[in-house]
Amino acid sequence: MTDLAINGGPEAAADLEIPRWPQCTETSKEYVLDSLESEKWCRIIDGADWVDRFEEEFAEFHDAEHAIAVSNGTVAIELALRACGVKPGDEVLVPAYTFIASASAIACMGAVPKFVDVDPDTFNLDPESVREEITADTVGIVGVHFGGYPMDMDELLPIVEEHELFLIEDAAHAQGSAWRGERVGTFGDFGTFSFQQSKALPAGEGGIVVTDDDVLAEEARLVHNIGRAVGAGYKHTMLASNYRLPELQGALLCAQLEKLPEENERRQRNEELLVSELETIDGIHTLRADDRITDRGYCVYNFRYDAEAFGGLSRDRFLEALTAEGVPASSGYGLPLYKQPAFSREQLGALVPPGTDIPVNRHRHLPGVEKIMRTNVRLSHTALLAEDDTVLAIPRAIRKIQENVDELLLE
Ligand SMILES: Cc1ncc(COP(=O)(O)O)c(C=O)c1O
Repeated sequence: MTDLAINGGPEAAADLEIPRWPQCTETSKEYVLDSLESEKWCRIIDGADWVDRFEEEFAEFHDAEHAIAVSNGTVAIELALRACGVKPGDEVLVPAYTFIASASAIACMGAVPKFVDVDPDTFNLDPESVREEITADTVGIVGVHFGGYPMDMDELLPIVEEHELFLIEDAAHAQGSAWRGERVGTFGDFGTFSFQQSKALPAGEGGIVVTDDDVLAEEARLVHNIGRAVGAGYKHTMLASNYRLPELQGALLCAQLEKLPEENERRQRNEELLVSELETIDGIHTLRADDRITDRGYCVYNFRYDAEAFGGLSRDRFLEALTAEGVPASSGYGLPLYKQPAFSREQLGALVPPGTDIPVNRHRHLPGVEKIMRTNVRLSHTALLAEDDTVLAIPRAIRKIQENVDELLLE
């Protein structure tokens, strides 16, 4: 007799209703059609106004002075680095556990990404490790609000100030997150966001930078428009690339932004429900509760799995069993960034100036990151949009696996 779905039993989470993502709403159709019919599809065409409108609304949502929309979240980081004055050969700290773009953007500027350990209870930069990694060559930090969980700004900002570093907050995952009442992305010199299809504010592709600094904003605006002011015709005052967001994407983002606050409320409610149950399961570790986090955005929802409490069942086999029960879950990134072939000495050496000191990344071992690699269970933010309290099917499925773990250990 088998109970577990992986062995042919019934699914414990059959009632978990995860909505499809992204969603083409009536408002999305209306706004995109308006942009399409206007035949002004590029923001520098006279009368084009969807990207302008989105920038204004996004800046207002973040209580930021400026927002400059760009074509994706990767170039948003590059734009911010360039506006912060990063030069080839500079050293920039970045967490070793994040999507590659946070660090590859640094390398693509000819600078050296220096990988820092993260706290396995938050998945964010560990402040002590940040202090340890700073050298005379360090010019700034690209920090990540991983999964939408805000970095500890009380710890990070004094370090940035003390060492006169710039801070770019990679908030690709954190549309709507707030720390002590202020939206993330507005604490550092720049906040950068992604609107790629899987994100909580999706447009297929897209990105934005926000800043309160007038000078940085002007620089970023010039850079994003191939080195000229909007409306300056063919006069280019600096060498730069084209990072502009198309108008159709601007229209789509205006529509998607309208529904974000309500969706985040639902995600937060569901997360509270989920955590209250997950916390009672031996061997499941949710992220640290922190009162200073006053609002949450999400891209992924993470917790950690302790195999010992499941009779030694490997995390990967647990994930297979959980997915079979009807809970789509993954282990996250397969490699810490320092083990990515892209950050080998050879590859970095081709981008940085000759003579630059390049760490031998493949020999690094950062304990916080390695612990996450072994134990992470990742759900999409869409699981937190589940209808009613069907999200409780997730802890139910986990308990079922724990109670019937012998079925898997006997294999
Ligand atoms: C943390 C982080 N930063 C940056 C990016 C890059 O965004 P994009 O895919 O829009 O270039 C991503 C994308 O997933 C990300 O997860």
